[in-house]
Amino acid sequence: MSTHPSSSASGAKVRIKTLHSKKQRSEPITFLTAYDYPTAVALDRSGVDGILVGDSLGMVVLGYENTIPVTMQEMLHHCRAVSRGVSRAHMVGDMPFMSYQVSAAEALRNAGILLQKGGMDAVKLEGGRERAPAIKAIVSAGIPVMGHLGLTPQSVHQLGGWKVQAKSTEAARRLIEDSLTLEDLGCYAVVLESIPTEVAELISDKLDIPVIGIGAGTGCDGQILVTHDLLGLFDRFTPSFVKKYADLYSEMERAFREYIADVKDRRFPAAEHANSMDPQAFRELVREINTIEQEMDSEDDQPARLH
Ligand code: KIV
Repeated sequence: MSTHPSSSASGAKVRIKTLHSKKQRSEPITFLTAYDYPTAVALDRSGVDGILVGDSLGMVVLGYENTIPVTMQEMLHHCRAVSRGVSRAHMVGDMPFMSYQVSAAEALRNAGILLQKGGMDAVKLEGGRERAPAIKAIVSAGIPVMGHLGLTPQSVHQLGGWKVQAKSTEAARRLIEDSLTLEDLGCYAVVLESIPTEVAELISDKLDIPVIGIGAGTGCDGQILVTHDLLGLFDRFTPSFVKKYADLYSEMERAFREYIADVKDRRFPAAEHANSMDPQAFRELVREINTIEQEMDSEDDQPARLH
């Protein structure tokens, strides 16, 4: 947890029991993603309940095609930056591809790193019943696990692209079973991504743990979006379920163009952006420089000395 002095975040730390109470009171839970310190500070002060350091950082910050190339080192680097900016919100670190699939022992070690070195409060991983050994190992070590079902981006190749999931009766039934399994395994919350509203609502009703939706409609206990999508900072594409609250990419490009034009036309830096010296000290400096130059010139005029 950060102790940075400039933080004006107020209110008690959001804990898992806070999220569970919100579900019981039918009070919507808010999550957004962050990958760096300034965004984390702004989110924490804005009053969001939870911050996910998502492996979506691979796409929206690091420029990868999908989330598959993201490594533990990259996740750790960004988790540390985010945790330095947060004092109130609940923080979740995403487990990257291949950090939890190989063995339960590796999954536990990597989850531990995200808490111990990354400063996170919990971890998130993708998948259903096939993740039982990993989830059991992590939860039994006292590390809270958030599940992630539906469109699981780390399986984008297996799923055949970024498609809405659980549209058939069979696929929806399997998703419901997986959600119940995650709850039984001890997950404290689950993210449902890109699934029909009706299915998400059914699952939210059936589970005691909070269901956080993204592209899963209004019936979930809470919502999450990728912050770069919400801010209009990601120029490649915007999923149809995103509401853009700003167009910061255009604003950023406008500011860069204005700066370049200002420098070229000598409007920047202006007087108020520059520092000046005491005039008397500057006159002395010029006198000294002139004297040194004259001495050097007269030395150059001397004939070379013979040894
Ligand atoms: O990585 C991420 O940002 C996520 C959210 C889309 C839930 O997993």
